[in-house]
Amino acid sequence: MKEDKLLTVLRNNPDTYVSGEALSRQLKVTRTAIWKHIEDLRELGYKIDAQTKSGYRLISAPDKLFSDEISHNLKTEVIGREIYSYDSLDSTNDTVYQLGEKGAKEGVCVFAEHQKKGRGRLGRVWSSPKSKNILVSLLLRPVLPPADVAKVTIMVGLAAANALIKTAGKGFGIKWPNDIFYEGKKICGILTEMSAESDRVRFIVVGIGINLNSAAEDLPPQSISLKKITGENVSRVSFAKTLLKELDLQYLRFKKNEFAKIVDDWEELSVTSGQRVTATTLGRKVHGEAVGIDVDGALWVRKDNGLQERITSGDVQHLRTTGK
Ligand code: BTN
Repeated sequence: MKEDKLLTVLRNNPDTYVSGEALSRQLKVTRTAIWKHIEDLRELGYKIDAQTKSGYRLISAPDKLFSDEISHNLKTEVIGREIYSYDSLDSTNDTVYQLGEKGAKEGVCVFAEHQKKGRGRLGRVWSSPKSKNILVSLLLRPVLPPADVAKVTIMVGLAAANALIKTAGKGFGIKWPNDIFYEGKKICGILTEMSAESDRVRFIVVGIGINLNSAAEDLPPQSISLKKITGENVSRVSFAKTLLKELDLQYLRFKKNEFAKIVDDWEELSVTSGQRVTATTLGRKVHGEAVGIDVDGALWVRKDNGLQERITSGDVQHLRTTGK
């Protein structure tokens, strides 16, 4: 969606009415075209008051993930410099992958109100009720060997956890590699996919699903939403902005080779380190105590025989809950 100039003018005049004549002059279209455009915006859920003598005033915007709403005043350097929004699509990861193949610039984001084929990690399904949560994917083009993609996974988990903390306060933790949990229940999942040659990443697609306003009855027992935590609906547009800003911040650190600092911050929020875990990696199970992650984002597990094993991919199951 291109920047909506009419909306921009109305947004810039929150306390005054802008006349149809002034709008038609500024936007170089007829007054009938302005009126039609106002009707279209109302159809989308914008509340616009019209006074015969004074003109139009924007009263409120819908909490829809429209690109125009998210990009308004979003001062990021890379992430979200181009934003697309869809009412419904198969999977935001697929759409971003296609954009990546067409040569789109890094930082492009795709939001959706609903996914018909939402995917989770390890072949799982990710389902989310329409217009309640955050479903977004972004395109990154870091200069990296494919083996280093785990670092991106860690970096994105930290950004998503920070966005949740900024919005709702403490209590969120990261389960390796990048699930976000609150009181033992999952609130956010991240799916990282890539297109690569043997020694070079072409592009990475990071898909993030966050339960914001899902009602308790729409959530599986092991999941939680921000609404359940805070007791109120959360503005999806303002959360989306916070998330993109945090992603931008962490990605800029990542590009400046500050991954060691990202690891330190990640460890502060880790609910995996120190836990007794079963890690499943490439169909094999490793039991022991999670020690922490290394400079490549891999998890070290101290097995019962005292030997440590480095887990680079897969999932972990915590065998007892943490106080965090
Ligand atoms: C997981 O925890 O298994 C990862 C879930 C990732 C879900 C998001 S929602 C947006 C993006 N599109 C998808 O199809 N999946 C990711």
